[in-house]
Amino acid sequence: MKPRDYQLDAYWMPFTANRQFKAAPRMFVAAKDMHYVTDDGRKVLDGTSGLWCVNAGHSRPKIVEAVKKQVETMDYSPAFQMGHPSAFRVAERLAKMAPGDIDHVFYCNSGSEAVDTALKIALAYHRARGEGQRNVLVGRERGYHGAGFGGISVGGIPANRKAFGSLLPRVDHLAHTHNIEENAFSRGQPAWGAHLADELETRIIPLHDASNIAAVIVEPMAGSTGVLIPPKGYLERLRQICDKHGLLLIFDEVITGFGRVGPCFAADAVGVVPDMITIAKGITNGMVPMGAVLVRRGIYDAVVNAAPPDMVELFHGYTYSGHPLATAAAEASLDTFEEEGLFKRAQELAPYFEQAMHSLREMPHVIDIRNMGLVAGIELESKPGKPAERAFKTFLKCYEKGLLIRTTGDIIALSPPLIVSKAQIDELVGILGDALREVGRD
Ligand SMILES: Cc1ncc(COP(=O)(O)O)c(C=O)c1O
Repeated sequence: MKPRDYQLDAYWMPFTANRQFKAAPRMFVAAKDMHYVTDDGRKVLDGTSGLWCVNAGHSRPKIVEAVKKQVETMDYSPAFQMGHPSAFRVAERLAKMAPGDIDHVFYCNSGSEAVDTALKIALAYHRARGEGQRNVLVGRERGYHGAGFGGISVGGIPANRKAFGSLLPRVDHLAHTHNIEENAFSRGQPAWGAHLADELETRIIPLHDASNIAAVIVEPMAGSTGVLIPPKGYLERLRQICDKHGLLLIFDEVITGFGRVGPCFAADAVGVVPDMITIAKGITNGMVPMGAVLVRRGIYDAVVNAAPPDMVELFHGYTYSGHPLATAAAEASLDTFEEEGLFKRAQELAPYFEQAMHSLREMPHVIDIRNMGLVAGIELESKPGKPAERAFKTFLKCYEKGLLIRTTGDIIALSPPLIVSKAQIDELVGILGDALREVGRD
């Protein structure tokens, strides 16, 4: 290993055990296609698409070229009261790709901003229609909607909330859908659990009154909390209840967008059209930060037409909304997905991936394996008194052996780039199986 030309102390790392990391750092210095390269020159197979974002694999030439060309041509263009062509081209393309009559696009820079934006649009929409009292927001236990105050308020991961005070007022949460007793080792969408959506109508709506509720936000497949696959019929039922009571339904597709669970959006996979979709990550293949909210026509029309002509209609946006480097990366990413047929590829590969993942069933301490598209969650029984230890040890062992996995608590999440080959899926399973066996002996 070469001596480092930097100190580790000053950087306060996000969602990281800083002291543990700095005692034994893990550094990537290069990436290409399915692999990272570490600072000691080892290749590491990417089992997680970075952080669920590098859907077409790393440093893809077309996207690299597009970003290089853009930075040489125009580095930045003001986001407010000015435009640049690429931002409009990307929006048109996303509008065509989105399901149903979702055909407007609001840009931001991350998934967290996309969530805050969608929640604000929901409130602004109801107000524009003269129902400004509709301001209760409904999330779900175990939901992850980023790290902003809006996102952690509707989110349901206790550790992400507990240090940060009272959060947004007027928020309620549905129960999560995870149930190992009923659904362990389900392949694809589990059969049990559609009825859990009824809580919206049997508890939450009577408690707050529908006339006060603005929106329901859920991840169609909850990724960061540990891969919770939607029970068959659950999202359909949420849609029906929202329609019946005039509530907006927001799908947070920051992870599931762009082929992760098969078609472009999870909404397509389950045949449910929400009112808004939040996206980020895969839209630029992880190369440049970008997020967006995809919005149904009626919502855009209601907000925009409620303002006097020539006036700003929605007092919201970011300096870097639709940044030229981000839109250039997005155009080239969408081209790459399309030219290489990556969403179809992911769908075709999903049964092989499923079979490979479920082959780990007999490994020590595995209590559940679940999957959808090219995502899998492997849940381990927690060591008494030491939650998360087994999964984290597995993560470290995999890294030593040349595989990047992700863990949340005692759940291992896998989400390889959509270009993964069958041989690489086998390699992933081989390394992970060895790591699980070794950790199982501890
Ligand atoms: C469903 C979902 N929403 C929002 C976010 C937040 O995205 P970001 O980290 O880009 O702010 C994430 C990140 O993993 C996510 O999985």
